[in-house]
Amino acid sequence: MRFDLISIFPDYFAPLRLSLMGKAEDAGLVQLHAHDLRDWATGKHRSVDDTPYGGGAGMVMRADVWARALDDVLSVPLAARGAEDAPASPRRVVAIPTPSGTPLTQPRVEDLARADQIIVACGRYEGIDARVAEHYHGVGVEVVEFSIGDYVLNGGEVAAMVLTEAVARLLDGFMGNPDSLVEESHSGAGLLEYPVFTKPREFRSIEIPEVLLGGNHAAIERWRRDRAIEKTVRVRPDLALSLDASSLTPEDRATLAHCGVAYPQAGAAERLDVRLAGLEDVVAVSELAARTFPDACPENLPQEAIDDHIARQLNPDVFDALISDPERHRVFVAEVWGGLVGYVLTHVGPDALPSELVRPGRVEDGSAYLSKCYVDQAWRGSGIADVLLERAVADAAELGHTAVVLGTNRGNKAAQAFYKRHGFRKRSTRTFDVGGVRNDDVVMVRDLTA
Ligand code: ADE
Repeated sequence: MRFDLISIFPDYFAPLRLSLMGKAEDAGLVQLHAHDLRDWATGKHRSVDDTPYGGGAGMVMRADVWARALDDVLSVPLAARGAEDAPASPRRVVAIPTPSGTPLTQPRVEDLARADQIIVACGRYEGIDARVAEHYHGVGVEVVEFSIGDYVLNGGEVAAMVLTEAVARLLDGFMGNPDSLVEESHSGAGLLEYPVFTKPREFRSIEIPEVLLGGNHAAIERWRRDRAIEKTVRVRPDLALSLDASSLTPEDRATLAHCGVAYPQAGAAERLDVRLAGLEDVVAVSELAARTFPDACPENLPQEAIDDHIARQLNPDVFDALISDPERHRVFVAEVWGGLVGYVLTHVGPDALPSELVRPGRVEDGSAYLSKCYVDQAWRGSGIADVLLERAVADAAELGHTAVVLGTNRGNKAAQAFYKRHGFRKRSTRTFDVGGVRNDDVVMVRDLTA
């Protein structure tokens, strides 16, 4: 890969020859050429700029001077290590650093690392006459106007060095240990990197997180991934909403949802808010309950029984009564921009448990009863159910309950696995009436005293 950096201050680029970049140059992996733009200027003063048409402050760099420089550098042969090395039709890119360019991102850098030559045209003053980019773009040259951030530098030289280093380190053979590239910020799913630690084990009373001291590699990987997700949501919510969804595991999605970002099965991620329902939610929750209830019913349950249950048990009056009485009933809702997509209902009063569970020895006194936890089909697997369930459990614990009890259909293994992941264990069975039809449930309990 050949870099041609053109500037009126070519000495700026001397530090690029230090460290790994210098080694890569010695090894023939990169060729760095710094050029003085004034070599292409004419006239007694070898002037490279002039006043702007239309008036205004400052000076503009002349198109004719830049064109002479770029024509020359774009036509250099690229067979540095012998003619047989020369690409048949080399990819040459003219990169122009400017605060008005498109942001330089890791995917962009990864793409540029596949070029054969990158020519960086460093402007000073008010920038380069706009016809330079227009002309080269018009004759088929790949022109990239890029910005390294939303601030203004005195010229493009620092940005040129940023681009050069970011691209060169991705070239095969550049890094001593290529594994370093695998888990760094902005790579893979697009998460920021997790925090790293080294010796001493204790520094100014701050200890190393316990999990990193053990040899459980799966646990360490999970911990790192969770910290990376939390950090990305906290400091770069824009990135957290545009991750590569195909690389997110169910555990990643649960952590993201806990941090307030939900990825649906298809389509764009959204900010997620999980909160106690208010009376303004009554209609929306009952509609949500009506459309999600059939998803969890066993296949042999007749439609009339389902409809009857929805009409009697999930109508707005029922939810109005539940939401109006937060001392005995707790309804939490999950809301995205488009509306409510999930809810969880727990009964927490002295009469919380349904009669079939009250018989002595079945479940502990002081248990809360988790009656419902439903999420819209489009948001299954997004981690919203995990957040709702954990919120309901934490709420029951705060209210002084010693356990949370629930019943779920015996045939619904997915639901049982979900509750098991959240610390629920099978305790017994019961029968549950849906629209006059008997259903067999397993009863599961999560102990809150441990
Ligand atoms: N030149 C001046 N400011 C710049 C920036 N933020 N990015 C790229 N080039 C620049």
